[in-house]
Amino acid sequence: MITAIKLVLTSVLLVSETYQVALMLVGYGKVRPPLLGAEAASRAHRAIGDTAVPITVVVAVLCLSGYEIGDAIEHAGTRVAVHVVAASLLLVALVLKIIAVRVGGRTSRLLPVLGSTLFVLFALTFASTVPFFLGGNQ
Ligand code: HEM
Repeated sequence: MITAIKLVLTSVLLVSETYQVALMLVGYGKVRPPLLGAEAASRAHRAIGDTAVPITVVVAVLCLSGYEIGDAIEHAGTRVAVHVVAASLLLVALVLKIIAVRVGGRTSRLLPVLGSTLFVLFALTFASTVPFFLGGNQ
């Protein structure tokens, strides 16, 4: 049951992270759709981000409390090692992004890089677990 919840939440996070990238393309004026302004896109990005952070932390806590990390890597090899590294970097990038948003000023210039990094790390975290479990493996 916990596994199913994690698989669903991780899939939702990847979809919302993809949408987050699209929103910021509008927010930074790279794409100008007729029905969505830059200001509204940026505010939506912030609201979705505020929701995604606690969900990510909950899934990470479930992972950290549910697995003996060393044993899992030894047992399942590269795939789990990729997951652990990507997810750990993801948490670090998340903290850095929150700091950059709060501090503002010149640190705001780091936001596009941190956002893109987060997207790649979410994709790796997803790809190293969800397809494996949905393929019927345990
Ligand atoms: C430092 C943070 C994390 C560590 C150390 C960690 C570690 C692990 C380990 C060892 C597994 C077992 C893999 C297997 O046997 O196939 C696992 C599974 C999984 N993790 Fe993580 N994880 C972390 C964060 C995250 C995050 C942030 C997400 C989602 C955004 C996530 C999503 C999943 C999913 C969906 C599974 C497969 C379902 C399950 O095993 O219950 N993990 N994690």
